[in-house]
Order: sequence, then C-alpha cells, then structure tokens
Amino acid sequence: MQPNTTTPDAQSVAIDLGDRSYRIEIGAGLLGEPGSYAGLPSTATALIVTNTTVAPLYAQALQRVLSPLYGRVLCLELPDGESYKTWDSLNLIFDALLSNGCDRKTVLYALGGGVVGDMTGFAAASYMRGVPFVQVPTTLLAQVDSSVGGKTAINHPLGKNMIGAFYQPLRVVCDLDTLKSLPPRELSAGLAEVIKYGPIADMAFLDWIEEHMDALRACDPQAMAHAVKRSCEIKAHVVGLDERESGLRAVLNFGHTFGHAIEAGMGYGQWLHGEAVGCGMVMAARLSQALGLVDAAFVARLKALVERAGLPTLAPVLDAQRNSARYLDLMRVDKKAEAGAIKFVLIDGPGRAVVRAAPDAMVVRVIEESCAG
Ligand code: NAD
Ligand code: GLY
Repeated sequence: MQPNTTTPDAQSVAIDLGDRSYRIEIGAGLLGEPGSYAGLPSTATALIVTNTTVAPLYAQALQRVLSPLYGRVLCLELPDGESYKTWDSLNLIFDALLSNGCDRKTVLYALGGGVVGDMTGFAAASYMRGVPFVQVPTTLLAQVDSSVGGKTAINHPLGKNMIGAFYQPLRVVCDLDTLKSLPPRELSAGLAEVIKYGPIADMAFLDWIEEHMDALRACDPQAMAHAVKRSCEIKAHVVGLDERESGLRAVLNFGHTFGHAIEAGMGYGQWLHGEAVGCGMVMAARLSQALGLVDAAFVARLKALVERAGLPTLAPVLDAQRNSARYLDLMRVDKKAEAGAIKFVLIDGPGRAVVRAAPDAMVVRVIEESCAG
C-alpha cells in the first residue's frame, strides 16, 4: 500500500471515569497547538519532565506553548532508558519540585515515552499527596497504551512495574508528528501493543492491522491516526469498566506475563518492552492452544503478524542451566499472581480474552517450544 500523505483531522477519545474523566487528543502538530491545553489549570508553575533524547526534539516547543498559561515553566531532563525507571530517577523529580519550591498546584507534564510517562505519573500521584499531570506521549507505545488509563510505576530489580499507583492524568495529547522521529525499532515495539487489541477485543481491528501493516511501519499519517484512535477507544472502554483492575482490565496484559519475565530476566533495556510483549503474545497464544482454546492457525496468524511488525518471536534463553525454572520464578512475581500461582491472559476464541492459571508442565513445554523457534 502507498503511504497517504494527507493530514487527518484531529480527533478526541473520551475516558469516562466520573470526576476523573479526561480526553485523549489525537492529531498531527498538537504538541505546539495552544488549543490542545485549553481548559487545563493555569497556575504558578508547570514542570515538564522529559529525558535527554526527547528534550532536544520537543521540549522547547512545549515550553513555548505552555508559557502563557503558567508563571514559570520548568524542565527536567532524566537519563534515557528502561534501566533508569528507578527510585533514583523518581527522586530527581522530587528534588526538582522541592528545590524549586513547587506547591501542590504545580502541574507536571510528562513529555516522552512510557518510561517518562509512568515515572512522572507516579511522581504526580505522590508529590504532596497528589498534583495534577498531563501526558504528552511521543512514542507509539505511549500513545496507544501507557499514557492512557492511569497506571504509573517504577521497576524493582525483582519485578517490572512493581511499585506504583493508579493516578489519572488531566489530559493526554498525542501528537502524531512526533512519531516521525522514532527509530524503527521503537515504532515496531509500539506496534506490539496495537496488535494486542485485536486478539483480546476486536478481530475486525486485527484484520485492519494485517491490511495496513506496511503503511503503519512507514508511519503513514492516515493509518497511524486510525491505529492510535482505535487502540485508545478499546483501552478507554476497558478502563472505563474496570479502572483499578479488579478483573476485566487484566486482559490488557495479554503477552505481558511472559513479556515481563523476558524484560526482567534479560536485564531491563535489553529487550524493549514492546518486543517482549510481542514475543510474549505468541507464547500466550501457544499456551491458549495447548489448553484447547484456539487452534494452530490462530497462533500461526498472530506469529506472522508480530514478525511483520518487525518484532522477535524466538524467546530468549534466560538461564543456560534452568531456563524454564527461571521463567517460572520471574512470572511468580507478576502482579496477577495469587499466592504464588501464575495467572495468564489467554485467548479464549478470537477476540475474547480470559485470565486463568495453567499447569506448570504445560507452561514449561510452551517455554521450551518458544525458545527453540
Ligand atoms: P521509552 O519511554 O523508553 O521510549 C523509547 C525510546 O524512544 C527512548 O529512548 C525515548 O527516549 C525515545 N523517544 C521517545 N519519543 C521519541 C521520539 N518522538 N523520537 C525519537 N525518540 C523518542 O519506551 P516506550 O516503549 O515508550 O514505553 C515503555 C514503557 O512503558 C515500559 O516501561 C512499560 O512498562 C511502560 N508501559 C506502561 C503502561 C501503562 O499502562 N502505564 C502500558 C504499557 C507500557
Ligand atoms: N497496559 C495495561 C493496562 O493499562 O492495564
């Protein structure tokens, strides 16, 4: 398919959460548009939290558009990378807030990918017991998933996203133009979370992704606009029904139980989050097949699509001596685990997900098969 270069109109998706409701604005050029921030509190101070990669690209434009709204607009650059999603980086945000005398009306702006967004959200949830924040996601993964729905966290060496809070932003501003500067590997990582929404909720969307994969990888504006909007709509629906993951929301973690084990087991930052999720989805589909929930054709279809997105499907060996045991150990600290029993998000027929346990021997077979190709 030929890339379509016309710019699609800006669109808005609502997250309906009572007095914590907000809008996700989606469109080209929104980051530097004053209208994207209309109606947000105009107070003494805004703090933009970003990182050393994103700051030179977009911090000035954000600072410029926010200046009329605030007495001062500060900017903090964190080190870049999943391996910096830590207490130390979180403390740098608190240091900046306290050393600049920021009060409880200070508005935090998270400018960057999911790492910056998750950490800034957690800082906003806890600074002076809660200050307002806005997400300005600049990766595909952050636009279709992490900036939406209020999950905030940092990592612990023993487990991914283990320390955090549910805390909703006031708004999400997805500027599709920012995706043009993303390295291809990061774009592919974001596509994993786009693909995710098909098997768990909307097979027609999976068909559409298959048809438009080449356009998506070429960052075609029309295709990207649809992918971001439809992903946000599905996520908004699920989060609106189960904000704090008492049940349904867990389906958004399809591929994440295996994926988090890969990320933690390889060392944070070795495999990108989206890469681990892509491979993890294929492993979870294999487990669904082993339990008789889907057929081999479904697994093959998902694997082929993940590969077309430019993502790995060969699972890494985490330990030469006791590989499966290492996977199981890591998966036991997953947040869905109960009393040490691992719970998986499985596909219970195309377009429908279910959360359930599986016998260890079956999980071990899936790990062995997935590490062998
Ligand atoms: P990331 O934040 O590390 O960003 C990826 C890389 O792209 C970084 O090097 C970043 O500096 C760079 N970058 C960002 N925007 C850019 C741009 N426009 N141009 C060029 N480079 C740019 O990774 P990510 O994939 O965005 O997010 C992954 C994180 O999100 C993980 O920590 C994961 O746990 C988290 N996550 C959270 C949720 C949630 O619901 N809160 C959901 C999914 C993932
Ligand atoms: N990315 C999983 C969730 O938001 O619940």
